[in-house]
Amino acid sequence: MTQIGVIGTGSMGSMLVRAFIKSGAAAPEEVIAYNRSTKRAAALSQETGIRLGTCREVAAGAGIVFLCVRPHEVEGVLRELGDTLSPRTLLVSIAAEVPLADLQAWTGARVVRVIPTLTSEILKGASLVVFGERATSTDRDLVRTLMDAIGRAVEVEEEAFELLTLLTSCGPAFIAATMKEFAAAAVRRGGVSPACADLLVTETLAGTAGLLEEEGSSFDEVISRVATEGGITAKGVAVIRKEGPGVFDAVVAAALGEDE
Ligand SMILES: NC(=O)c1ccc[n+]([C@@H]2O[C@H](COP(=O)([O-])OP(=O)(O)OC[C@H]3O[C@@H](n4cnc5c(N)ncnc54)[C@H](OP(=O)(O)O)[C@@H]3O)[C@@H](O)[C@H]2O)c1
Repeated sequence: MTQIGVIGTGSMGSMLVRAFIKSGAAAPEEVIAYNRSTKRAAALSQETGIRLGTCREVAAGAGIVFLCVRPHEVEGVLRELGDTLSPRTLLVSIAAEVPLADLQAWTGARVVRVIPTLTSEILKGASLVVFGERATSTDRDLVRTLMDAIGRAVEVEEEAFELLTLLTSCGPAFIAATMKEFAAAAVRRGGVSPACADLLVTETLAGTAGLLEEEGSSFDEVISRVATEGGITAKGVAVIRKEGPGVFDAVVAAALGEDE
């Protein structure tokens, strides 16, 4: 198996390491990582059994290197690594807002962009993938295999990355915030504790996800199975259909920075 390198073991880098190991996509001895501050990397190594190395050891020793630093730190890391990252290496940048064109200008490695999602922690959710022009068909297979092991890899056009990131990477927060408001509406009516409302909505969310995913139902099929004509659910659905577009258009606009 190709050695997997990880540079930056913060929130997402650590999640990827844990998910690759949990899914069986990689054995601990096949992963080597480096983080700027040693404490985080040492804790991850102790927890998972992965090896640690210097930044150059990770870049030179792995066939595929996940670069998991913040967007403004990407150029500095790549320029510092210089020729250590050669065309023999497949570099996967998970940074939002750093286009393939910049990555390919800053490194000689073959480049892929992946936007993972926190839900890969439980091996669910979609990772967005776009391949650079130097990526080979073997690279495509390897990245798809790794990301499919921890959810679902979805290849998209780079132009659509920013918008689609709202559905996948930001999505868990948007869905959780929406569900919190749903539960809070019941609590405001009185006689229901927040803990009870949160539990009921959580169970309903998990069950609905199961119907959508395991039974392959569409959103509309789920709605029509519950919302019989003239019934109480249909009345609630009508309100969501009326008010929802305004709310979610505003969410998308705000997240895209259009209100600034
Ligand atoms: N959070 C999400 O849901 C999400 C989703 C998709 C994509 N992303 C992308 O994932 C990337 C990482 O985000 P994050 O949330 O994981 O951030 P984070 O928790 O701040 O992790 C970044 C890590 O990079 C390390 N680092 C910084 N400079 C470094 C260097 N020169 N060499 C090695 N390690 C270095 C930091 O080390 P220190 O401990 O020294 O600070 C930190 O551990 C970002 O580019 C973001 O756009 C995030």
